[in-house]
Amino acid sequence: MLSVNEIQDIIKKKFNSLIFNGYPAELYEPVIYTLNLGGKRIRPVLLLMSCDMFGGEIENATDAAAGLELFHNFTLIHDDIMDNAPIRRGKETVFKKWNSNTAILSGDTMFALAYKQVIKTQSPHLNKILDLFTKTAIEVCEGQQYDLNFESCEDVSIKDYLEMIRLKTAVLIGASLKIGALLAGCPNHDSDNIYSFGENIGMAFQLKDDFLDTFGNEEKFGKKTGGDIAENKKTFLYVKALEIADPITKEQLISCYRQNKNTFDMQQKIKLVTDIFLRLGIDKIMEKEMNNYFHKALKYFNLILLPENKKKSIIDYSYSLLYRDN
Ligand code: IPE
Ligand code: IPE
Ligand code: MG
Ligand code: MG
Ligand code: MG
Repeated sequence: MLSVNEIQDIIKKKFNSLIFNGYPAELYEPVIYTLNLGGKRIRPVLLLMSCDMFGGEIENATDAAAGLELFHNFTLIHDDIMDNAPIRRGKETVFKKWNSNTAILSGDTMFALAYKQVIKTQSPHLNKILDLFTKTAIEVCEGQQYDLNFESCEDVSIKDYLEMIRLKTAVLIGASLKIGALLAGCPNHDSDNIYSFGENIGMAFQLKDDFLDTFGNEEKFGKKTGGDIAENKKTFLYVKALEIADPITKEQLISCYRQNKNTFDMQQKIKLVTDIFLRLGIDKIMEKEMNNYFHKALKYFNLILLPENKKKSIIDYSYSLLYRDN
């Protein structure tokens, strides 16, 4: 079994071997800028770990791994336009550093580059992989649209929220693990179980992302603290707060989210909402919910019949994602 560090190294080398520059330079510079900022690379790590766990050839999985990371980076470039986010990975976002048109086009290019990379994969299961990749890409867009719809919707339920994050985030984590499994040629029931494991880990992962957006350290997290509150995002924190708050607090929250973005003091809004979340103990509730998803994930993982020593790395790595600060 390869360690996480060894897998990270393989991914680094893979990206170093790929050439993304071209003309017009304005199109490729943001692609290179984004990829050079790195990020955690969790999707390719999980893909390669899964392939390794099921006894596949890691070398043969690096194209798909790089493809999924390219796809993820494309979604981030467009997501930052949608979320009006000024910083990512501790640096200016592409649409702030250049402009929205450049971010749209560079993002589109990355989406195509992602397919180009996945298609390079030599595998008798390539068709299945491409089907899953395509289905996942469409689902991510569906999730992103729900996320945007919810900004101006006042009756988002926890159920709506959970389905939204399943689509925008969890399915890609599930797909990464499943593609790794398919490349290793593992049987259907195993590849389905690893998908469900990933989907549940992905739910916990997005819950933590929501948490860090409000309570994280900006330097470490690399994104603007309070960004979700500023954009009226219906995160777990907000939806849960509305669910459990007394009528007065509920009214306060709703009225904060009704303020006109241009006239309201944003720092004041962020502080007010954050204080309400803390007062209601939403941070604790979120942690419990995250742990529930981790345990649900484990139930699927335990159905995979492999020796424990082969399964340990994925569990340890997935667990570490829930206790991350970035
Ligand atoms: C950010 O993903 C978007 C979410 C789905 C929460 P990551 O937290 O994996 O971002 P990077 O790639 O490490 O920057
Ligand atoms: C984004 O969710 C999910 C995708 C990019 C598909 P967020 O909007 O919460 O991600 P961050 O916090 O900006 O990374
Ligand atoms: Mg978003
Ligand atoms: Mg965002
Ligand atoms: Mg976020």
